[in-house]
Amino acid sequence: MDRPRLVEAAGVPFRWRGIEVDHDVVAPRHGLPRAGAGEPGLPANGQVFGADLGRRPTAVRPVVRLRARADTGARGAPGAGPAARPAAGGRTRRKESTVRTYQVGYFVGSLSSTSINRVLSRALIRLAPENLEFTEIPIGGLPLYSPDYDSAYPPEATALKEAVGRSDAVLFVTPEYNRSIPGALKNAIDWASRPWGENSFDHVPAAVIGASIGQIGTAVAQQSLRAVLSFCNARQMTAPEAYIHYRPEVFGDDGEVTDDSTATFLAGFMQEFAVHVERVLTVLPRG
Ligand SMILES: Cc1cc2nc3c(=O)[nH]c(=O)nc-3n(C[C@H](O)[C@H](O)[C@H](O)COP(=O)(O)O)c2cc1C
Repeated sequence: MDRPRLVEAAGVPFRWRGIEVDHDVVAPRHGLPRAGAGEPGLPANGQVFGADLGRRPTAVRPVVRLRARADTGARGAPGAGPAARPAAGGRTRRKESTVRTYQVGYFVGSLSSTSINRVLSRALIRLAPENLEFTEIPIGGLPLYSPDYDSAYPPEATALKEAVGRSDAVLFVTPEYNRSIPGALKNAIDWASRPWGENSFDHVPAAVIGASIGQIGTAVAQQSLRAVLSFCNARQMTAPEAYIHYRPEVFGDDGEVTDDSTATFLAGFMQEFAVHVERVLTVLPRG
């Protein structure tokens, strides 16, 4: 079977065998300096300038404990390892992990009724670990953003911001339009990022993936999208990258993936996303 071609970031071990690598993409790990408080875009000392769409300060919530100690009541058995040895008082204490469920809001960057990216989103949901739950954040009914709306958002835009606010993390599944982000998706991001000081993406864990009928599988659009999400201060998963060269024989309409190596790759991508979400939110849960 002719497999879709998939690409991962340079410097990242290839963990999924049988995947053809087209080229390397280096994801630099640095950020822009900030200009400080005030309206974004103002130069600092006439040299570099940054911006902080930000969020108005909120109280920091205590860190969620993902692993809990529990008394099991079990007795240590002969030959058992240190973890099973009885503690003082005869009871054994061992660590039990608690898997937390995360709500993922996902954007499909296409308005097409036959969108291949919507098919890809179904495949990702099917292959994702059980602790991720998905809700689509619709973008098709939004008017074009204008700052004139900042004082009174229309209901569609308020719903969008509330949906992002309910999400622990966001996932973007997008086509590439003219080597960039589809306008409808950019419009949705602009709505969610405003009004100034109420940026819904601030510190939100995020991942980007896309499918194209073209050879480079939305690579250029994803780089544009990453730049936008970086400015919006989303906590992006930088690796693995996933540029899907879509072939209809590999994807069923309901998201079934018939090629094993593709399914393994996509499942690995979603597993890494789950780990990324947990890592980000364990450091500092959303306020
Ligand atoms: C306006 C427009 C621009 C496009 N530009 C690109 C492009 O830059 N790169 C690419 O690989 N495919 C491009 N395509 C082809 C898309 O990959 C293809 O239409 C794909 O099916 C879009 O994803 P969707 O089915 O999820 O809407 C473009 C399609 C349209 C309609």
